[in-house]
Amino acid sequence: MSEPTIENYYTENRVFPPPPEFQAQALVSDNSLYEEAAADRLGFWARQARELITWYRDFDTVLEWELPYAKWFVGGKLNVSYNCLDRHVEAGRGDKVAYHWEGEPGDTRTITYAELLSEVSRFANSLKSLGVNRGDRVAIYMPMIPELPVAMLACARIGAVHSVVFGGFSPDALADRINDAEAKVLITADGGFRRGSPSPLKANCDVALANTSSITGVVVVRRTEQDIDWTEGRDHWYHDLIDGASEDCPPEEMDSEDLLYLLYTSGTTAKPKGIMHTTGGYLTQVAFSHKYVFDLHPDTDVYWCAADIGWVTGHSYIVYGPLNNGCTQVMYEGTPDTPGRDRLWDIVERYGVTQLYTAPTAIRTFMKWGEQEPAKHDLSSLRVLGTVGEPINPEAWMWYHEYIGGGRCPIVDTWWQTETGGHMITPLPGVTATKPGSATFPLPGTTAEVVDDAGNRVDVGGGYLTITEPWPSMLRGIWGDPERYMETYWSEYPGRYFAGDGAKIDEDGYIWILGRVDDVMNVSGHRISTAEVESALVDHPAVAEAAVVGAADATTGQAIIAYVILRGTATTSDELREEIRQHVSKKLGPIARPRVVIVVPDLPKTRSGKIMRRLLRDVAEGRALGDTTTLADESVVEEIRRREAEGTAED
Ligand code: WT7
Repeated sequence: MSEPTIENYYTENRVFPPPPEFQAQALVSDNSLYEEAAADRLGFWARQARELITWYRDFDTVLEWELPYAKWFVGGKLNVSYNCLDRHVEAGRGDKVAYHWEGEPGDTRTITYAELLSEVSRFANSLKSLGVNRGDRVAIYMPMIPELPVAMLACARIGAVHSVVFGGFSPDALADRINDAEAKVLITADGGFRRGSPSPLKANCDVALANTSSITGVVVVRRTEQDIDWTEGRDHWYHDLIDGASEDCPPEEMDSEDLLYLLYTSGTTAKPKGIMHTTGGYLTQVAFSHKYVFDLHPDTDVYWCAADIGWVTGHSYIVYGPLNNGCTQVMYEGTPDTPGRDRLWDIVERYGVTQLYTAPTAIRTFMKWGEQEPAKHDLSSLRVLGTVGEPINPEAWMWYHEYIGGGRCPIVDTWWQTETGGHMITPLPGVTATKPGSATFPLPGTTAEVVDDAGNRVDVGGGYLTITEPWPSMLRGIWGDPERYMETYWSEYPGRYFAGDGAKIDEDGYIWILGRVDDVMNVSGHRISTAEVESALVDHPAVAEAAVVGAADATTGQAIIAYVILRGTATTSDELREEIRQHVSKKLGPIARPRVVIVVPDLPKTRSGKIMRRLLRDVAEGRALGDTTTLADESVVEEIRRREAEGTAED
């Protein structure tokens, strides 16, 4: 017997089978897809590729695999924008709404598939007029406005490669990504609305472009109408370009393995990696997963993914999957508390949203704001709820289930990564009996295993999450850095893709994601997952959010430091902090009890909502802060430092 790699302290026994009423209308309600894929994985994906996608030329070979390089649907020719737009219009569905878009100030736009096709075609011709050719890289730095998917689809139409940079990133981060990809054109907007005020997107571009040399043209969408600087000859208004552009832009025939996009993901320290996604395999897996994981009924559903398109979640589940599947979506520009804390629930009610897809960090924020906010609205249109981005603690899962889902909506906890392109481990809502906090099982056609330090499979218990077979939407590499691709993902456990996450498998075979292994704490030789301790902390009624880190400790190696945000009604005291420590001890055992509980007003997060534990470790160990370019709010760390200096409830 090998030593457990990551110890397992928490057991969750609640099980939620799909409700019979849901199952009765579900696309799949039995194991047929799992069985088909297990019997013939490549045949299964070939069927999905042919059913969900229109090919100009059928593929000859399903998969060519030479570790770590995969080619899917070899010989196939297709165009992603044709699949997302033209074919729906050709089939007579041009008047169907593609996006119900809502700006933060309350302005709205309704965009049909026919309108989207027309605008994409005109903008694709505009890009050509700026000298963008097949294979060129185009950087996109935009708010959540319809011109963002238009820009992506226009690139896909002419075979250019887009690199979307999240609109919350700094000029430095934008410049790094432009330089790495050697982007030719940059598409942006004057700004976008966030929490009532316009963001300085164009101004940030001007700063970034002082440190780049590849950009020959900048396209600017007018959104906020704020004053901006203008560089004649380089800058072009979007509306001027498309006004004069022809609507006739035949889609390029792309090879299945042609590059569709780059999306940069930051490691914990090193320079961002340009994750490469290609055409046929990517579209197949995002279309398949979007259809079956959300139980899509495209004629009646109004689907809403509340992420930002700047993250992979938006690429795969706001743009490519849903449009390929011809569904109607909601797209929202702003923050969930503008003008009130019920903005999301108001949107769900007004558009009759049927699927809502969001992140655990958002759900915990909604919990903190209280159930009276969703209670102001009729949420009975909802059928399926999704989560993504980090482990969801059982309490947040239960809250989502009860106060948003009315106890009747299956929750799909979808584990995947920028690198995986699409869902990998997730329930199917009409099939899987869910357990709060577990992403459950690999999607049909994908294969995951947990292994120990030596790379041996763990059947029950904790370890490292690996993927054992290539999958259609897998990354094809890191732009310009094949060695790093091999080293980061394929070297740790020979023959396997290493995801960088810890996970455990329970007696029933359910997979529980334990968070990034860089975050695992080592206390007196016990490896404890941050996710489990955080989950136990937020289980205490006074705690709204929590982050834990292991800080160097002379006796125990590391000691657990817990940073917690209290719920609205609770106030901090020595007694409360002690009670919270004991609560963890009771739930997980004394080894997992935090040495210190520090009450903070907020936690340092990336703009995608991931807690930056690295910064908390810097604070806990009294170091200067490392790279903070992806931090959403700089002042948070200062405040935490101040609280920590004030003294805490130590043993
Ligand atoms: C990392 C990938 C996938 C789109 C958004 C994030 C964590 C993601 C889950 C989940 C537990 C999750 C993992 C993963 N993660 N989904 N359902 N349960 N953890 O994409 O920025 O590439 O991050 O997010 O740690 O490795 P990303």
